Amino acid sequence: MKKLQLHNKTYSKVLQMHCLGVALVLMVFCLPSPTSSCTEQEKDSLLRFLAELSQDGGLSASWQNGTDCCKWEGITCMQDGTVTPVLLPSKGLEGRISQSLGTLAGLQYLDLSHNLLSGGLPLELLSSSSIAILDVSFNQLNGTLHELPSSTPARPLQLQVLNISSNLFAGQFPSAIWKAMENLAALNASSNSFTGRITTQFCNSSPSFTLLNLRTNKFSGNIPQGLSDCSKLRVLRAGDNNLSRTLPDELFNATSFEYLSFANNDLHGVLDTANIVNLRNLITLDLGGNIFSGKIPDYIGQLKRLEEFHLNNNNMSGELPYALSNCTNLLTIDLKSNHFSGELAKVNFSNLPNLKTLDLYSNNLSGTVPKSIYSCSNLTALRLSTNHLHGQLSLRLGNLKYLSFLSLSKNNFTNITNALQILQSSKNLTAVFIGYNFWGEILAQDETIDGSGSLQVLDMQGCNFSGTIPVWILRATNLQMLILCGNRLTGPIPGWISSLRHLFYMDVSSNSLTGEIPLTLTEMPMLKSTDNATHLDSTVFELIVYNSPSLQYRMITSFPAVSNLGNNYLTGVIPPQIGQLKALAALDFSFNKLSGEIPQSVCNLTNLQVLDLSSNNLTGAIPVALNALHFISAFNISNNNLEGPIPYGGQFDTFQTSSFNGNPQLCDSVLTQKCNSAEAHQPVILSEKRADYKMAFVIAFSAFFGVGVLYDQLVLSRYFGKSY
Ligand SMILES: *[C@@H]1O[C@H](CO)[C@@H](O)[C@H](O)[C@H]1NC(C)=O
Ligand SMILES: *[C@@H]1O[C@H](CO)[C@@H](O)[C@H](O)[C@H]1NC(C)=O
Ligand SMILES: *[C@@H]1O[C@H](CO)[C@@H](O)[C@H](O)[C@H]1NC(C)=O
Ligand SMILES: *[C@@H]1O[C@H](CO)[C@@H](O)[C@H](O)[C@H]1NC(C)=O
Ligand SMILES: *[C@@H]1O[C@H](CO)[C@@H](O)[C@H](O)[C@H]1NC(C)=O
Ligand SMILES: *[C@@H]1O[C@H](CO)[C@@H](O)[C@H](O)[C@H]1NC(C)=O
Ligand SMILES: *[C@@H]1O[C@H](CO)[C@@H](O)[C@H](O)[C@H]1NC(C)=O
Ligand SMILES: *[C@@H]1O[C@H](CO)[C@@H](O)[C@H](O)[C@H]1NC(C)=O
Ligand SMILES: *[C@@H]1O[C@H](CO)[C@@H](O)[C@H](O)[C@H]1NC(C)=O
Ligand SMILES: *[C@@H]1O[C@H](CO)[C@@H](O)[C@H](O)[C@H]1NC(C)=O
Repeated sequence: MKKLQLHNKTYSKVLQMHCLGVALVLMVFCLPSPTSSCTEQEKDSLLRFLAELSQDGGLSASWQNGTDCCKWEGITCMQDGTVTPVLLPSKGLEGRISQSLGTLAGLQYLDLSHNLLSGGLPLELLSSSSIAILDVSFNQLNGTLHELPSSTPARPLQLQVLNISSNLFAGQFPSAIWKAMENLAALNASSNSFTGRITTQFCNSSPSFTLLNLRTNKFSGNIPQGLSDCSKLRVLRAGDNNLSRTLPDELFNATSFEYLSFANNDLHGVLDTANIVNLRNLITLDLGGNIFSGKIPDYIGQLKRLEEFHLNNNNMSGELPYALSNCTNLLTIDLKSNHFSGELAKVNFSNLPNLKTLDLYSNNLSGTVPKSIYSCSNLTALRLSTNHLHGQLSLRLGNLKYLSFLSLSKNNFTNITNALQILQSSKNLTAVFIGYNFWGEILAQDETIDGSGSLQVLDMQGCNFSGTIPVWILRATNLQMLILCGNRLTGPIPGWISSLRHLFYMDVSSNSLTGEIPLTLTEMPMLKSTDNATHLDSTVFELIVYNSPSLQYRMITSFPAVSNLGNNYLTGVIPPQIGQLKALAALDFSFNKLSGEIPQSVCNLTNLQVLDLSSNNLTGAIPVALNALHFISAFNISNNNLEGPIPYGGQFDTFQTSSFNGNPQLCDSVLTQKCNSAEAHQPVILSEKRADYKMAFVIAFSAFFGVGVLYDQLVLSRYFGKSY
């Protein structure tokens, strides 16, 4: 029974390989016979492999010397007892790979992927005269890949598929080694640290070479011209390397390409070459993250099979060509962060019925949103933010039944009342970013506007809206993030806020809100509970909203729990119940008119990373137990009227004096005032409200966001000094 399962697995794997265009021999049709038993020599080789493992994942239970090795876990034999596949993926194996496996004369398929194997890859496996598929991906193998010794017999090697991806290999990538591999069809060396140039040896020696994946390594130099000799090469992935210079013209001779990616390198030059029409089989073209300049050539329209088109983060300019409308199979157009200009209406989007993602963030596009976009009925993500578009939203937006991500921030759209009415008819919207538009309009309070039940993120920051926090927000019952900062909203923080049962990120800072902090704010369910079980379904944004060297924010739940009421005119005390909001990572009440003491209960907020209570009228002593908040990295209580000693120990020892400045009655060894010293108090210099707020918040928040690129106006754009 067990063997049959193994066999089926082999079979489907082999079929997958076939789909790659890899012709595979035998092995598929030879059912293991119950009478088969392996030879002593094979058993011996396998036992030597087992002996070199430091952790065998329980293999030794069935791998017993006294038994038939054809019945061992992971082993399948042919009728004559020859061991053909050895399939041991994800078995928790540790230790070195023994060269003894190279002596299994009938071994055709060796899968050791997803283990913790270390050491080098024995050359005996590469030079085996039987192995056709060798998959050691996702291990911790290291060292370099050596050239084969000259003693290697001249007979052709059988290797067809070699997957050494996701290991720790480093050093110069070998080139001569491939000469002997006439049958090589797929080489996957992604996610290692190989250096040197891309070799094209395969193109000459392996006539059926189909797939080359060198992604995420340290390859440098130019893209070799010889690639055009790879007449069967369909997939070439070389993104995330250090490749430089221009694309060689010869590259465009390779008509076989279906998938071509050189994303995130240092390539430059213009793409305006007629040769591009040779790539008529291309399905994916990814040249994002380079320094390409010039226009998108009209020839692009000849790539009729194109589905994925990525030219994001380059130096491209000019108008979007009408010809793009001819690529009728397009699913994704990603041209964000370039200098494209002119009217978006140049492209007839009606011809792109399959389009799912259109990302034109940060260009110089003008005009209105073309009507043809509304006929892309499969659109799920539309990002037009940071351009010069204007006009009102069209009712036809409601046609986009699958639209779940919409970002229009930082344009010059008008009529928020109209926009909100239209957005509520888009029933599938989960994330809406419309900040920095509708300048100075009145935020509609009209109760007929219905919050959409699917809405999870609503960003309407920086619009200088007047009015109050509108009650229709209450109907967005699944709202998780609400961003209303940078407006002129007046009135109180509404008591109904705790009815939004999923809300964990609220930023209403930099408005003109008045009144006291409502007690219901301390009842917000998502902020009270640190129980992960109550945490939300982790909706994935259709597009990445924040990108830093270490993080890509795609999931709503990767954002921290935040309550930001800073820079308003709030009065009264900080309610002691604030200590209930145990999930909070950032609490910012700065630049208000709060009075009374810092409640002791703040010391219960053990997840806090940012605590900013600066520039209020707080009095009394600093709660000593605050030094037990181990995660705090940004702390500010400056410019209040606090008194007494500054606690020490814990995180307190890491805070600068600027965290405490402007409290004349505080004393400490850090400040100029020693406790019990009789020296005159320094005068309080109360900083100018509002002007300082931005900087204070930058410092507080860079604590967990670090420096990165924010693609949507979402949280922090204004704090990184980027001119979005
Ligand atoms: C397996 O058993 C045979 C015969 O009993 C013996 O010769 C051989 O050394 C054993 N192999 C190992 C690896 O123990
Ligand atoms: C390369 O291998 C990795 C994992 O080993 C796999 O995820 C990836 O799809 C492969 N790439 C190609 C182009 O086959
Ligand atoms: C290894 O790479 C090959 C070829 O790219 C691919 O077919 C196979 O699925 C990969 N193995 C794993 C474990 O991802
Ligand atoms: C390959 O490209 C070069 C340069 O563009 C061109 O001169 C040559 O004719 C092309 N060869 C083939 C076979 O298409
Ligand atoms: C970007 O493109 C412009 C105009 O096309 C060009 O003048 C400039 O040199 C390019 N910058 C880089 C870094 O290539
Ligand atoms: C855009 O394409 C559609 C469908 O092919 C066509 O009906 C329409 O006339 C075109 N619009 C323009 C402005 O060319
Ligand atoms: C943006 O486009 C306008 C015309 O629409 C043009 O005048 C301006 O120079 C462009 N700006 C940049 C930075 O390309
Ligand atoms: C709404 O969006 C979800 C996921 O984003 C999708 O699975 C579903 O089909 C969409 N529903 C409609 C009616 O478009
Ligand atoms: C934005 O649009 C308004 C109204 O259409 C117009 O008065 C204003 O000049 C535009 N602002 C910019 C920066 O284009
Ligand atoms: C704004 O939109 C509303 C609702 O669609 C409409 O009644 C109103 O006339 C629009 N205002 C302007 C100035 O276009």
